[in-house]
Amino acid sequence: MSTVQVSLTVNGERHELDVEPRLLLVHLLRDRLGLTGTHVGCDTSNCGACTVHVDGEAVKSCTVLAVQADGGEVKTIEGMASSDGTLHPLQEAFWNDHALQCGYCTPGMIMSAADLLARNPDPSEEEIRHGLEGNLCRCTGYHNIVRAVQDAAKMQSGEALETPAPPAGARENAEAVAEGMKP
Ligand code: FES
Ligand code: FES
Repeated sequence: MSTVQVSLTVNGERHELDVEPRLLLVHLLRDRLGLTGTHVGCDTSNCGACTVHVDGEAVKSCTVLAVQADGGEVKTIEGMASSDGTLHPLQEAFWNDHALQCGYCTPGMIMSAADLLARNPDPSEEEIRHGLEGNLCRCTGYHNIVRAVQDAAKMQSGEALETPAPPAGARENAEAVAEGMKP
């Protein structure tokens, strides 16, 4: 099959690639660029595990052709932490609030939540639940995910958190989970 050249910036890095016109953005990210933090949970645009930002907006990358992102700015979960390794407030809050179990949904949840907070820095619980309704989690029951988004909103506004510090060992457990969820 013939290919076309696409040029896009991913997490601040410019890439020029020859791709088949049918290639999905999620496969370009995972298979061509090795950014496997973006997950595929369904391939039918239901689960949101593949959510990334294109030109600042959350999109399900299994529903976007790579050629549609030509010339665009893409951000994935790998681009959320600062270059010095400081976690994004959402990553920190998901960690502190135990907002993940298997972690499969987590990158997509965080990318959707970041889009939500960019548009609404102080969302209500209802607005968070509505904003994340395109992201499915089979493990957590969503309660801690909502709490993490509330806490991230507070962190971003400089407000003190009411959430108690995580118990000893929680960070190590979360690190192990994060490692384990890498495919
Ligand atoms: Fe894209 Fe499920 S893999 S929505
Ligand atoms: Fe397992 Fe959400 S933590 S799917």
